[in-house]
Amino acid sequence: MKQLRLALLGFGTVGQWLAEALQTQHAWLQQECGVVVTIISVATAHHGLIYQDDGLDIPTLLDLVATRRHLTTHPKVTHWTNVLEGLQSTGGDVLAEATGATLRQGEPGLSYIRTALTQGMHVVTSSKGPLALAGLDLLALARVHGVQLRMESTVMSGTPVLSTIREGMAGTRIRAIRGIFNGTVNFILSAMAMGYDYVEGLAQAHSQGYAEADPTDDVEGDDTVAKTLILATAAFGRALTPEQVVRSGITLLTREQMQQALDEGKRIKHVTSLRLLSKDGTEITRETADNGTIPTHLEARVEPIALPLSDPLARIDGLLNAIAIQTDTPQEVTVIGPGAGRFQAGQEMLADLIAIAKSR
Ligand SMILES: NC(=O)c1ccc[n+]([C@@H]2O[C@H](COP(=O)([O-])OP(=O)(O)OC[C@H]3O[C@@H](n4cnc5c(N)ncnc54)[C@H](OP(=O)(O)O)[C@@H]3O)[C@@H](O)[C@H]2O)c1
Repeated sequence: MKQLRLALLGFGTVGQWLAEALQTQHAWLQQECGVVVTIISVATAHHGLIYQDDGLDIPTLLDLVATRRHLTTHPKVTHWTNVLEGLQSTGGDVLAEATGATLRQGEPGLSYIRTALTQGMHVVTSSKGPLALAGLDLLALARVHGVQLRMESTVMSGTPVLSTIREGMAGTRIRAIRGIFNGTVNFILSAMAMGYDYVEGLAQAHSQGYAEADPTDDVEGDDTVAKTLILATAAFGRALTPEQVVRSGITLLTREQMQQALDEGKRIKHVTSLRLLSKDGTEITRETADNGTIPTHLEARVEPIALPLSDPLARIDGLLNAIAIQTDTPQEVTVIGPGAGRFQAGQEMLADLIAIAKSR
């Protein structure tokens, strides 16, 4: 039986879901995956890091959080106020990083991930910021230390996109990716396609709990730009900066523009596109690639586009996300599924964890 000692940094919505899943699926993980996962440390911003070498008791952890008691009241734990120092002192086989890392600085996740990789720990993370800002560097660091950095839940949380690209499509060369990567924005656009204006669509998203109190990161495209940067790294092996992504949000879209698109048999969607281009700015196709044209740069855009109904992305409604991947094989592959939620994010972290356990 393989033993996996887990450091869990971030014990909010996603971290708690993951801990609970490890508890309820304990027997299944042993029987089906041949792995016993023990949570040896847990950290939050307000509680610092607690550590127990024999493993923390998950029901106790969840009860402490539910009853708003301090994590240090868990029996027999060592405590660090400074989470980074705690991680450096206690290590583990895998870091599960689920802090609320910011999109702009990537912290605290970036420092935690760097530290863990440098210590020879595998990392699974649900935080977009660190991967968007330093994905290629972090993957290189993981390679140097012979460990894995997995990030399935950062793009289309709940739908296996990165593993589809990395494992399912291994051997193909990806030429372009298009996608709808923000459920809140897609929900608002779906409402607008039914005749509501932007303000009414946003109000509906708010009333159903699909939009943050401050929706800026979603509606102005920051969240989607972060996912675009992660895909640039994961699918194309290229590091782009946020400034290199041509971006426009959805706040200025009018009812008239939506109606005009409908009249033309189109639907306006907030589309991410990543395309390999040749030196003269033309798209790389099968033919030009066969003729030896070399891709020199990656174009990245996040913007509202009127798509014809024949395009699979035009028919993605409500909270759904989708990705359409063009490779050097003839047909585009489209994957449709959820893109957010505590279950979805936690489940993808669990899938990453199982992949690491199986490969050890
Ligand atoms: N929820 C989703 O549906 C979803 C989906 C995909 C990806 N994600 C990503 O997953 C990550 C976690 O999301 P969440 O919904 O679980 O967030 P959350 O409920 O706000 O929980 C964040 C956790 O991280 C802890 N934390 C914050 N700063 C920290 C620090 N400096 N050191 C240690 N711990 C720290 C918080 O501690 P305190 O409670 O003490 O502040 C809290 O326990 C985010 O990056 C989010 O974008 C979430």
